[in-house]
Amino acid sequence: MKLYLDTANIEQIREIAGWGILDGVTTNPSLMAKEKGDYKKILKEICDIVKGPVSGEVLSLEKDSMVEEARELSSISEHVVIKIPCTADGLKATRQLNSENIPVNMTLVFSANQGLLGIKAGARYISSFVGRLDDIGNPGINVVEDLLALINLYRYDTEVIFASIRHPEHVRQAAIIGSHIATIPYNIFIQLIKHPLTDVGIERFLKDWQNK
Ligand code: E4P
Repeated sequence: MKLYLDTANIEQIREIAGWGILDGVTTNPSLMAKEKGDYKKILKEICDIVKGPVSGEVLSLEKDSMVEEARELSSISEHVVIKIPCTADGLKATRQLNSENIPVNMTLVFSANQGLLGIKAGARYISSFVGRLDDIGNPGINVVEDLLALINLYRYDTEVIFASIRHPEHVRQAAIIGSHIATIPYNIFIQLIKHPLTDVGIERFLKDWQNK
């Protein structure tokens, strides 16, 4: 499974990229709004660090403006992937961008049917928001499982991104059900590497060695 970092924060990206396990980054307007500076400059800086797919989202809601915005973002780097919301205009924009070889990450997907439409429109990635569905008492993982099943059944080459991750258990679930990608917030990445028994173990080994 590919591991993406879900942030627009440069320090966080540098830190996790330094671990040598980072495959890509996803941003969204809320994440970008937390950072100082120009949207496009931040995207460029991220692409220079990561050298893998970096999703930047359009703000427009109408097809032609989405396409225009997407072309501009895409000119920043070959690594830029355009996040397009799952709407009727989003599908039209995705179809157009697909014909221009601009990769699309269809975002805000909350059902297998929405995902299917995104796949049919030519999205390279489908971001299935698991946590936001869990938040309203709807098991978000079911949508990812359905999407993986239909991608396998019809041999689509779209990849599913297990998104809106809330805790490390989501990462484990994403991996064992065969999600192509999980996009993980920084604080969850930090939790993934931590285990109290690892810390206790290191301490004990060092103590034993000093007392030999
Ligand atoms: C996905 O690409 C989104 O940026 C993200 O996972 C949304 O997560 P949230 O529900 O925590 O905002």
